[in-house]
Amino acid sequence: MVKEVLTYLVNDKSGIYMDCTFGAGGHSQEIMKNLEENGKLIGVDRDPDVKNKIPVSLRNDERFSLVKDRFSNIQYHAKNASIDGILVDLGISSTQLDNLERGFSFQFQGPLDMRMDQSEGMSAEQWINTASRKEIEKVLWELGEERASRKIAKIICEKRVKQPIASTEELVDIVLSCVPRRGKKHPATNTFRAIRMQVNEEMEELNSVLESASYLLRVGGRLAIISFHSIEDRVVKRFIQGKDRIASSVSFKTIGGKHVKPSREEEKVNPRSRSAILRVAEKVA
Ligand SMILES: C[S@@+](CC[C@H](N)C(=O)[O-])C[C@H]1O[C@@H](n2cnc3c(N)ncnc32)[C@H](O)[C@@H]1O
Repeated sequence: MVKEVLTYLVNDKSGIYMDCTFGAGGHSQEIMKNLEENGKLIGVDRDPDVKNKIPVSLRNDERFSLVKDRFSNIQYHAKNASIDGILVDLGISSTQLDNLERGFSFQFQGPLDMRMDQSEGMSAEQWINTASRKEIEKVLWELGEERASRKIAKIICEKRVKQPIASTEELVDIVLSCVPRRGKKHPATNTFRAIRMQVNEEMEELNSVLESASYLLRVGGRLAIISFHSIEDRVVKRFIQGKDRIASSVSFKTIGGKHVKPSREEEKVNPRSRSAILRVAEKVA
């Protein structure tokens, strides 16, 4: 939703912007095209690999800088400036998903890793082989909305006693033994998403970046969040409405309607965008 993000996010062409999920730099490139000479863009990504894939147009542009960090730390990179716009495009990139070594995809055989930054935290393999049955059940149910969470957790615990679960293929086989194939959606979709969200602490990261944005943005500054499923979108929606927010003196108004969905054309070109929801809000006080 590049066009929509630009329409709503860039309000001042000489402002300071943060792209908290730089990825392949698709959104950043377009934001930069819209900024004037004194505008600035700070890209952030926790994946160390992204710095090797910065698009050529950004590499030598002094208005742009990239930091490798979690977006829960953006306050350390804003350099005390009032920010004009903050973009968060949640989840993982196609590059990460399609790299079988990273273990994000149920479609490829690979090591069960799923960390966005492989130098920190527990891999999916470590988590799945050490978490209690109750914890696995809870994560699959709460983050994956997986109806067979109990059954899957039970089989995981039975299998790992004999031999640790180490590959994406083993996890897919476990899920397939518990969840029947129905429709186009792969039965392992929810389980993989839940475990990825758990090992990357994605809900904690989201809550934290929203709180930071509420005080880093100037009044009139805008926040654009693209989420991919209802658990994240609910958090974003409630935050904009002022519910569940620590910074209670700050308020936002919604921009561009309640939420924005990708156009039919975008869905055709990029089927992964189908479930994307963009919410934009402007800080009013
Ligand atoms: C959906 S992709 C973003 C794609 C990007 N908008 C583009 O146009 O190429 C999400 C990116 O955000 C990064 N990411 C996800 N959670 C993060 C976090 N908590 N902190 C920093 N980066 C994060 C991922 O590593 C990934 O590169």
